[in-house]
Amino acid sequence: MAALHPSHPLVADIEEIRRRARQHMDKGAVTEGYQADLETVLRLLNEALATEIVCVLRYKRHQFMAHGLSAVAVAEEFAEHAAEEQSHADMLAGRITQLGGEPNFSPEGLTSRSHSEYVEGRTLTEMIKEDLVAERIAIESYSEIVRYLGEKDPTSRRLMEEILAKEEEHADDMSSLLQRVSDAGL
Ligand SMILES: [Fe+2]
Ligand SMILES: [Fe+2]
Repeated sequence: MAALHPSHPLVADIEEIRRRARQHMDKGAVTEGYQADLETVLRLLNEALATEIVCVLRYKRHQFMAHGLSAVAVAEEFAEHAAEEQSHADMLAGRITQLGGEPNFSPEGLTSRSHSEYVEGRTLTEMIKEDLVAERIAIESYSEIVRYLGEKDPTSRRLMEEILAKEEEHADDMSSLLQRVSDAGL
């Protein structure tokens, strides 16, 4: 997948990724030697940054809206994830500036730059399901970014791989939480 035009959507069909994530829920320093297309890499890293910011906002909303039995434990899990997504956002912003770019923290257009969605959910179960869906979207779109970066920008690739591994943990956490909440009949 070489020489993509900067405006070419690498994560081409986000709707399709979102659809698949929902469908399978039961089962996310530039030198001359720099080989990647810098503009494309900066755009992808900024999309990942937007994704992380949206995830922070969604987990924070869920943390404070978790009510009912076992809600304390669930709220703690949401809080922990929010903090980890925030650290991912910081890592991405750091890499963007290291590459000479500018991290986009603008609230304007945030949800369209982000791969995952901001869904509030009414019940504890709905919140956890939405978080699981968002993690699965992140896993799939970050995997695509990792494949694109390949050997062209190994540092950015390793950073994305590190974040990807954490999103897989998050998805696993949400999946177990969903099971626990549904076993408890909440
Ligand atoms: Fe994250
Ligand atoms: Fe996550």
